[in-house]
Amino acid sequence: MTSIDDVADADATGKVPERYACGETFVPKTRYVDPDFLALELDRLFTQVWQPACREEEIPQPGSYYEYTIGRQSIMVVRQKDDTIKAFYNACTHRGMKVVRGAGCASEGDLRCPFHGWRFGLDGRSAFVPARDEFLHRPREQWSLKPVTVGTWGGWVFISMADDPPDLLGWLDPLPTALASFRLQDMRFRWRKRTFLQANYKTVIDAFIEGYHTPGTHPQTLRAAQGPRPSAEPAPPQEFSYAPYTPTIPYRNHSRFIYTARPDSGNRDSARKAQAARPEVFANSMQYNYLEVGSLVTERDYRAAQQLAAMEPTDVPPFVRYHQLCEELALAEGVDFPTMTMEQYFAGNGDWHVFPTLVILVEKSCVLGYRMLPDAEDPNRCVFEMFSLEHFASAEVPETAWQEFPRWQDHDGWGELPTQDLMNIDAIHAGMHSRGFDGLWLNTAQEMSIRNEHAIADRFIFGSEEVSAGD
Ligand code: FES
Ligand SMILES: [Fe+2]
Repeated sequence: MTSIDDVADADATGKVPERYACGETFVPKTRYVDPDFLALELDRLFTQVWQPACREEEIPQPGSYYEYTIGRQSIMVVRQKDDTIKAFYNACTHRGMKVVRGAGCASEGDLRCPFHGWRFGLDGRSAFVPARDEFLHRPREQWSLKPVTVGTWGGWVFISMADDPPDLLGWLDPLPTALASFRLQDMRFRWRKRTFLQANYKTVIDAFIEGYHTPGTHPQTLRAAQGPRPSAEPAPPQEFSYAPYTPTIPYRNHSRFIYTARPDSGNRDSARKAQAARPEVFANSMQYNYLEVGSLVTERDYRAAQQLAAMEPTDVPPFVRYHQLCEELALAEGVDFPTMTMEQYFAGNGDWHVFPTLVILVEKSCVLGYRMLPDAEDPNRCVFEMFSLEHFASAEVPETAWQEFPRWQDHDGWGELPTQDLMNIDAIHAGMHSRGFDGLWLNTAQEMSIRNEHAIADRFIFGSEEVSAGD
């Protein structure tokens, strides 16, 4: 158990208590299974950092609100009359009741507490107090909702509960620069799903911020030569030499990994490389992503991949031709498609951990996103959200809503690849509870994103600056 003394010590010294202390490549399991650690995270980390509350499109008009819940904190994000956005603690200043629940629109022009009927303007100011003369003993300025700092980037509404939060774009660095040309703020939901998992939120995050598990969990991705829907039989050891190399890049507040070739691979597997240079083999991979992920490749990109599959090989790599085809189709169909150089593409493409809760895989046409939110008191549970954001022609933006499933098994539309990830989660977290397991031993090249998330957290929880991979 964490004693107050331990915590006070941590404050004084910036030292991480031993049971929570990471090694260079080791993370103790206590950080995933100990309720006291979750309490520290909720109390000291989530109260200090910027976190995405919702997408701007979820509060489309004046009066629209969205309730974001993090631990025991409920925060309402509200679209103002002048189209700006404000956020407040969702607690009535009278007796504390939640003023709003879920998402909706304040149809009467102000926000009404259902308990005694107090009303608040969209700007949080007290607008109506029944029998107000009976409250004159209370200073007037305390009648208003308590504000929470709000900012926007990439189409997300971020909130921070910190008294003096850092500049949002500075906090997000290097994402705003690296992703500027992708114009995430102009993307809209294609689909969005939410479920609840029996695992710590970081157990789930970690399964989506490294690519090292790709051949082990998703062996079909090594087999594009078999067609758009290859076998998912487990890979034998020799097949692992065809795995993509996915180095992680830690930044001060975030991380990223990219899919690339191992630098020392030389001319090994030249037959395999020649195969991958065939247009239809590359096209198979893209078609698979559309069919069995439902993102990374949009329906429009899928048609581009089908065109590519029918083409003869040329000197131009299939990857380049695919991107040309996607762009041509998008422009022909009236999409304000983001144009960028290949350098800009590679600067932003990949899998980003927008610490602490968001993971985004960024392509030109779309973003595959995940958000994991901790339970308020059980380190063995979390909320899991998965969504696709896409660039649409303005007339083609679909109406979507969150589909919510109490158990992930209640939905059979996740696609083969996400299903493989989801099938792992409960068992990973259950295994962490084993008396025979002390903690995570991390790959020094392809899993440092996981080590980095703990280094970032320690700055906030224990005041520790000892490891900051991005510095
Ligand atoms: S608690 Fe909101 S009006 Fe009384
Ligand atoms: Fe995966």
